Amino acid sequence: MQTLNDRMRSMDMSGGLYEIFQKALVMEANGESIIHMEIGKPDFDSPREAKDALIKALNDGFVHYTAMAGTAELRSAIAVKEKRDNGIEADPECEIMVTAGACEALMAFMLTVLNPGDEILIPCPYFSAYTDMAHIAGVNIVEVPLKLENGFELKAADIEERVTDRTKALLVNTPHNPTGAVVGREELEKIAKLAQERDLIVVSDETYDQFLFTGKHVSISTLPGMKERTVIVNSTSKTFSMTGWRLGYAIAPKEMILYMNKVHQNMSTCATSFVQVGVTEAFLNGRPFTERMVEEFRVRRDMVVKGLQAIDGIRLVEPKGAFYIFPSIAGLGMSSTEFCSRALDETGVAMVPGNAFGKCGEGFIRLAYACSRQEIETAMERLAGFVSTLGK
Ligand SMILES: Cc1ncc(COP(=O)(O)O)c(C=O)c1O
Repeated sequence: MQTLNDRMRSMDMSGGLYEIFQKALVMEANGESIIHMEIGKPDFDSPREAKDALIKALNDGFVHYTAMAGTAELRSAIAVKEKRDNGIEADPECEIMVTAGACEALMAFMLTVLNPGDEILIPCPYFSAYTDMAHIAGVNIVEVPLKLENGFELKAADIEERVTDRTKALLVNTPHNPTGAVVGREELEKIAKLAQERDLIVVSDETYDQFLFTGKHVSISTLPGMKERTVIVNSTSKTFSMTGWRLGYAIAPKEMILYMNKVHQNMSTCATSFVQVGVTEAFLNGRPFTERMVEEFRVRRDMVVKGLQAIDGIRLVEPKGAFYIFPSIAGLGMSSTEFCSRALDETGVAMVPGNAFGKCGEGFIRLAYACSRQEIETAMERLAGFVSTLGK
């Protein structure tokens, strides 16, 4: 009997993050005290003004298809935000498209720019959707390991070692999920030079561009010679705590946007009309909301770093952005999966085994500090207690 295509047959269907999340939910439903440090979503409501604008648009009957690339108002609000915050010059008429989350923009990139069999370099550990999408598109993945001793910063030298004649694209994600690392300007300049020498297209995932604890985000697209070879992907999911609104965008050279938009047209036609109105309001007036949220994440980051540093056998680098930390538990004599599974069973702290973010993640765990200060304090106490019992 005919069933799945070959690529789906060989798809990695392991649950990773969602297995832990599901298990934690079941334990919670059974009355256990669970601290959720597994899921990467800010624990804030979305900005009030954005919700009001959305509701008004809905009540006013703004309920039909919009321009496929997104409303003119939203594209121009995105252009203003990107120029103001990141120095990115993008023509809202033809260089910006609005999508159902950053994920749709990434998928449109894979299907538009890459041929089946092309190679894409992906820093590892990674947000697992990258490799899933590459697999769906029939694109070959070459992992570029990120190292704890480099603070998990992506290094041009590590990329260069892996570029071949088949390499067409390089993925850069800064600030980075799952490590919280930020690629500094100096290293980005080296990477940009290499991309030009080896004729690589860069897909730059800037979902966490607002989540930096020191300094400002640098987009590789703003470095000399890079605009024409960079596809920027971004999202409102984290910036405005809108993971369920499903709104992201891509910024790319006109020709690429034209074809990525074709993919988008056939996958979703346009982003949800009234959501676009709410998000426009968020881009125009939501900056103070984001700044308050990031300030809270900075306090929590410091708490988590201090708490984990006090536990023998755990090694870490202080994250510079996003809201994740990726400590090594390799010294504790068990796999990441066993550590997370036992920690959940014995302490109720839900965390993700590092191997859910690729092979290079083995020996590490990811904690998202998207929970209250009180919960972080309790989680650190429980983890310290748990680790102290190991090997006894
Ligand atoms: C690095 C990175 N890119 C993209 C996304 C997906 O964003 P969206 O919700 O806009 O699809 C996430 C979500 O966790 C992420 O961590």
